[in-house]
Formats: sequence, structure tokens, C-alpha cells
Amino acid sequence: PDIIAVVPAAGIGSRMQSSSPKQYLTIGRQTILEHTLAPLLAHERIGNVIVVLSADDDKFAALPVSRHPEIITVCGGGQRADSVLAGLQAASGARWVLVHDAARPCLHPDDLTRLLAITASSKVGGILAAPVRDTMKRAEAGRDAIAHTVERDALWHALTPQLFPLELLRQCLQRALQEGATITDEASALEYCGYHPELVAGRSDNIKVTRPEDLALAAFFLTQLHN
Ligand code: CTP
Ligand code: MG
Repeated sequence: PDIIAVVPAAGIGSRMQSSSPKQYLTIGRQTILEHTLAPLLAHERIGNVIVVLSADDDKFAALPVSRHPEIITVCGGGQRADSVLAGLQAASGARWVLVHDAARPCLHPDDLTRLLAITASSKVGGILAAPVRDTMKRAEAGRDAIAHTVERDALWHALTPQLFPLELLRQCLQRALQEGATITDEASALEYCGYHPELVAGRSDNIKVTRPEDLALAAFFLTQLHN
């Protein structure tokens, strides 16, 4: 294996409004986090998988996957970027790091393989992304009226996993956090530092479970994935 994975799983899932954090909700026979970890643990190019947990997590240790020899756990931080950076501190040694949301349980192994293939040609890495399908409107400043239609061909939904050279991602995240930049995914830290990661077209069923209604959708996609 030449790639290390970091899975930020330290969020509280406030938009899910469930009693336990959404990564511990069950779909079928396993938690969302276990579904998320499965394709990473199974991939031959990925070695250790660093799972970033909140300081008061009392659920991960009870999952069978916590005893998998490739799993390492570390403590996360207040924002997603802090959690990812904490994960990177434990990821020394590898040249490339793959970051994947704990809340994306429907990753297809073929998408993972296609993203990993960019290590052969790319110096700055890239992300899975899905082309936008709807017609997109920009609103006028300060009111809900259409200013104009935005050219859709150039718009993508940013997904995870996202794959970068480990040292480059560490430097960009550190600088972006230090300078107070708005960082919503790893790629935005690289963009902030002037890099242009690649867009790798991925399946749109690789959803992030965010709101209660996403659970049934993820359950359906997982059933399809395993058949
Ligand atoms: N995450 C993290 N550390 C944080 C915040 C988020 O590791 N401080 C992780 C979440 O566990 C999740 C991923 O980042 O796997 C994507 O974040 P999001 O979907 O926003 O999850 P939450 O922050 O938990 O949900 P919400 O924003 O609704 O509270
Ligand atoms: Mg969040």
C-alpha cells in the first residue's frame, strides 16, 4: 500500500437531529461509519486508515472494525479542517493521503480506484466530483430574484474522497487555518494556496448523509451497491 486514508468522524451531526452522531446510525446491519470504512479497508493501495474521533466518543471502540489491524484512531478538533489536520499528524510516512467523510457510506470501489489512479500523473491531487444537473441561478444582491443563469457546464458538486500529496495538504491546511480562510473541504485549502486540484467525475449516489431524509436514500443506494 502506498496511500494512507484519513476519515474525519468527529462531528456531532447537528442537522441530523438524532440522539447519537449520524456516523453511528445503523443502515441494514452496520453503522454508517462501518459502511464508509469498508471500501477503504478493502482497497489494496490503501494501508492504514486513520479515524478521527471526538474526545468524548464512546461508540467507536464497541464496533468490531475498531480492532482491524489497519485502523488507527486520533482525537479531532472543533472544525472539520482541525479534525483532518489532527489525522494528518498521525499519517507520517505516506506520500499520498486520501480524505473521506465518515458520513459518505455509499462510495463505489470503482470511483475510489479511478481517483487513486491520478497519482500516476498529478502533482497536486484531485477530488471526486459530480457534474451539476439542475439549471443554476445567481440571485441579485440582497433579494430572492434572478440576476442571471449560471453556466452549468463549468459547475461540479465537490464530493469525497479527496486525494493529495500528504505534505502539500498539511502545509495548505495549516496556512489556510492560520490565516482564517473559509475551508469547507480539503481542496479549498489547496485552492487558497494557489493550486488547482483535478476534478474526477464520480457517481452522484456518493451522498453525504446530512439530514434525516438522506438515511432512506443512503439505505437504497447501499442495497444497490451490494447487489
Ligand atoms: N467532522 C469532523 N470534525 C468536526 C466536524 C465534522 O471530523 N469538527 C466530520 C463529520 O463527522 C463528517 C464530516 O466531517 O463525517 C463531514 O461533516 P458534516 O457532514 O458537516 O458532519 P457534522 O459536522 O457532524 O454535521 P453537522 O454539520 O450537521 O453538525
Ligand atoms: Mg458540519
